[in-house]
Amino acid sequence: MPRIRTLDDLRHWWDRHAEDYDRSMTWAERRLFDGTREWIAGRARGRVLEVAVGTGLNLEHYPDGADLTGIELSPRMLERAKSRAASLGLDADLRLGDAQRLDFGDSSFDTVVCTFSLCCVPDEAKAVAEMARVLRPGGVLLLADHVESTSLWLRALQRAAEIGSVPFAGEHFRRRPIRHVEAAGLNIEEHDRFKRGMIERLAARKP
Ligand SMILES: C[S@@+](CC[C@H](N)C(=O)[O-])C[C@H]1O[C@@H](n2cnc3c(N)ncnc32)[C@H](O)[C@@H]1O
Repeated sequence: MPRIRTLDDLRHWWDRHAEDYDRSMTWAERRLFDGTREWIAGRARGRVLEVAVGTGLNLEHYPDGADLTGIELSPRMLERAKSRAASLGLDADLRLGDAQRLDFGDSSFDTVVCTFSLCCVPDEAKAVAEMARVLRPGGVLLLADHVESTSLWLRALQRAAEIGSVPFAGEHFRRRPIRHVEAAGLNIEEHDRFKRGMIERLAARKP
């Protein structure tokens, strides 16, 4: 199995998994996420940027009339998001991009969303800083991810899983994006952590 060393390697990894992605998420969606997509997308307002949109699993949950832009690293994942948007009748601007270098001006969006992706973006601190930059003052950052568990034995399992998942899939299990949100100076307004602390979601406002 090839190691993931560059952003191109990661892009190809996600290209190879695009076809199976929705199916592979079925169990987690039902058993772990507890309505997190609805929680996140239902809070989005105005000009919305979704970072690492994947196959577009959040799209159906945005409020009617959301002015939606999405970026994604993998062309194959993006293709699926575009088909999903078309089948939902959404007029969304979905394009290729890198979460670590967002191709938008400062203060361009009212809401920035990122779900279950900061676990695999190579530099998640940089990605959060970029999300904060493109958010207008008063705008809201909405994040959800699987994070380091509060349970000792699950943390041990997560540490063991990372021995293979980080080098071969670029996947981290022990990150805490909330720390980068606080470091970026955003104010956490809502915060939820459940399933033995493994799922974390938050809404944070830019001052
Ligand atoms: C686990 S999937 C999550 C997809 C979607 N956000 C969801 O909630 O189902 C992770 C996604 O992050 C994307 N990704 C990884 N690194 C990225 C980067 N640097 N910039 C943009 N997208 C990235 C991958 O291509 C993949 O589609």
